[in-house]
Amino acid sequence: MSAAVLEAEKLIATITIPAQRQIVIDLQVEMAVDEPCFTQISTAVAKDVALSAKIIKLINSPFYGLSRPVGSISQALSLLGLNNFNNIVLSSVMRELINVDGELNERFWEHTLLMARLCEMVALRTRMVSADLAYMVGLFHDCAVPLMLARFPDYEDIAFPGLGGGKNLITVEDERYCTNHAVVGSMVAKNWKLPDVVSLAIRHHHESSLDHINDNDARVLTAILMFSDFISMLADSSVSTNLESGKIEGWAQYHRHILIELGLNCDDVYEYREDAAELLMRD
Ligand SMILES: [Fe+2]
Ligand SMILES: [Fe+2]
Repeated sequence: MSAAVLEAEKLIATITIPAQRQIVIDLQVEMAVDEPCFTQISTAVAKDVALSAKIIKLINSPFYGLSRPVGSISQALSLLGLNNFNNIVLSSVMRELINVDGELNERFWEHTLLMARLCEMVALRTRMVSADLAYMVGLFHDCAVPLMLARFPDYEDIAFPGLGGGKNLITVEDERYCTNHAVVGSMVAKNWKLPDVVSLAIRHHHESSLDHINDNDARVLTAILMFSDFISMLADSSVSTNLESGKIEGWAQYHRHILIELGLNCDDVYEYREDAAELLMRD
């Protein structure tokens, strides 16, 4: 067991991980069957009145641009379809589980929700792994950041600039705490009973190579996370176009293994950057 994992275990023992909601586990089971039962799903979700209210509020927000407001969970499910509905339940639960104080709150959620949508988009286009898993991995990939923020008073100064996905954040975390949010996050994902491939991808999402990830889905999900983290950073960036193109070429060269894994090339980075900027504008 690596030192980072041991330290992460010690750290986990000192922080309170919010309990996973049963509905997430139930939904994963239902999603995995050949013909998921819509009635069973909407009944299970509707039982949680507070969560249902949040889901309905979110669906009726301008982001979804519905012509008529939705009034019930079963209506929402039939209108959105199972996959979109599952994504909304997951992000609503994630908002309940994770609480970020102060200034970082908006930044964390903007990055997290953009990542979920970007990961899903990459999965839908590359068709190598389930889009639901990709959405889930995007949503939970930095779930340890708020927990570390609550645990370490000096975490805020590194989490702020590092949230967009640089390697620097991991280096500083390892130096300061002998572990990092990728290792802690993978343990939280396990604790929350998310699929193993999700936990594995979170574990490796800041590493420089994919070679040691034997599971095919976990390797693709990790590549999707790393690609999307870079795209989210570009969409968020205020640097000049010249600097950006230099940065993109450099990234594409250094991270060729990620592009190869996903069957993408450097031009795709520019395309996804535009799509990410559009997603941000829709919010
Ligand atoms: Fe991260
Ligand atoms: Fe991230």
